[in-house]
Amino acid sequence: MSETAKRGATERGRTVHGEPANAGHRVLAPDDAEVEAYLEQALHAPPPLRVETEAAQQPDTVVVLDFGSQFAQLIARRVRELNVYSELLPHDTPMGELERRGAKAIILSGGPSSVYDADAPRADPAIWSGRIPVLGICYGLQLMALELGGEVVASAKREYGPATVSLTETDGLFNGLSGEQPVWMSHGDSILRPPEGFRSTAQTDSTPFAGLADASRNLYGIQFHPEVVHTPIGRDVLRNFVVGIAGLRANWTAANLVETTVTEIRERVGDGHVICALSGGVDSAVAATLVHRAIGDQLTCIYVDHGLMRKRESELLRVTFERDLGMRLVMVDARDRFLARLGGVEDPEEKRRIIGDEFIRVFEEEATKLGQIDFLTQGTLYPDVIESKTSESKAAQKIKTHHNVGGLPADLRFQLIEPLRYLFKDEVRRVGLELGLPDAMVQRQPFPGPGLAIRILGEVTGERLDTLREADWIVIDEIKAAGLYRSLWQSFAILTPVRSVGVMGDGRTYANVVAIRAVTSDDGMTADWARLPYEVLAKISSRIVNEVPGVNRVVYDISSKPPATIEWE
Ligand code: XMP
Repeated sequence: MSETAKRGATERGRTVHGEPANAGHRVLAPDDAEVEAYLEQALHAPPPLRVETEAAQQPDTVVVLDFGSQFAQLIARRVRELNVYSELLPHDTPMGELERRGAKAIILSGGPSSVYDADAPRADPAIWSGRIPVLGICYGLQLMALELGGEVVASAKREYGPATVSLTETDGLFNGLSGEQPVWMSHGDSILRPPEGFRSTAQTDSTPFAGLADASRNLYGIQFHPEVVHTPIGRDVLRNFVVGIAGLRANWTAANLVETTVTEIRERVGDGHVICALSGGVDSAVAATLVHRAIGDQLTCIYVDHGLMRKRESELLRVTFERDLGMRLVMVDARDRFLARLGGVEDPEEKRRIIGDEFIRVFEEEATKLGQIDFLTQGTLYPDVIESKTSESKAAQKIKTHHNVGGLPADLRFQLIEPLRYLFKDEVRRVGLELGLPDAMVQRQPFPGPGLAIRILGEVTGERLDTLREADWIVIDEIKAAGLYRSLWQSFAILTPVRSVGVMGDGRTYANVVAIRAVTSDDGMTADWARLPYEVLAKISSRIVNEVPGVNRVVYDISSKPPATIEWE
């Protein structure tokens, strides 16, 4: 690559996380992240092409202002479970912006700070005006109390734990609830005296002000966390605020979402042409299906079959998209190309780099054959958007330095269509089902972009791929049969570079060792090895040894992450 091209790539390309596209990273929110990273690099699109279309047709929105709580995202998700749209925004978002975004209610999250910290996060004081109802949770409550003239005492330490609140006022926020209720409390700063006009609505042994309200100004606060499962009344409290007090309509449903998104895409694309790279993952599948519903044959999907997929995945993809949905699908059989380039390569990072690089080459070749293309569809999800917009630390934790897809290619200039930009993963799944995508695709466990290549330790060959694919199929088959598939974050097989001695029939064998990995996790950032029932492990082991040629031993990986990673490479 020439110096100029290198410079160009640095200056122009940005990943979905807002980093320079050629920084090279591996994203922990898996599935299609890999493919997207490749495309962003191929794209060379300057940030302005990422058109913000959302403001125009905002549904009634609950804005959650993020004061740094680990639960901030969860609050937004809980609100959405009430079928009301909710967005997470930085704590200091100006009131004008909140109104522009259609905020009809505001929730202030908790946070690790004390209101007396020098750099304690604050909100735009205009939110206290009463124009939009506000609910402060924990830190949010204390901030509200302090800013409106109450008295708050600082405490050095913040503690979390179960507590019992006694609800002293049972209309408004606690409508339909009564008496003593178990909650998840955080004890931080304490309110000594509420601001004028506020009444206490709940109390605990340690504070008479576990809940405050000034109904005339639409201001409410609670010291406990309604968003966590340890607060059984949490959902009712949120519903009382969002629907009861703020009067939002509960019409944020998968069906409505499909309808509005389809209309938006149709208007935006006009008679333009769109491409989408299908990866086999749920995000690109749902994004493509939405766009297809909007514009039909103006969409062409490209699926690069690199030969590193699981058994039958390519088949499922063809049947679903081409036969059942009638999409224009270009399936590129690039298996030989990938294998040829992976020949003799053992280093994990080198494998990733090669796969990324080859992916872009193939994708570009195919895209070029299609003639004029105006838009590229990607399955970017809301957590990616939040991370690139808000807190530095979160983004930093989520991204691991990794394969560096060595620069590339011709200037493909598209605009982006990101129909899932406001959705969490579980919502994407609901939309997928609403669109009629098969369960196997919608509920699929995450699968890394470089696929089976990073589960074959050592050189990737056609034969070793076949061995792993068969073993992997058995793992999934048995995990599904045991009803465990959806409770596990991932479950898969690894082909180790180890051979060991065994005995089969009358003969001695010297064959491959396959490892099984099954983990539970919330987001892939940390994980624990799954305590699979012995019977399931026994069945998997005996089937693999009996049905997969060249394997005579199966071991189970009992490492958590950290210190191990989920994938072996
Ligand atoms: P690790 O192995 O780092 O993986 O614990 C965390 C999660 O990320 C997935 N993963 C990837 N996803 N491209 C992806 O799209 C990749 O290169 C990649 N590497 C790992 C992994 O499957 C797990 O869910």
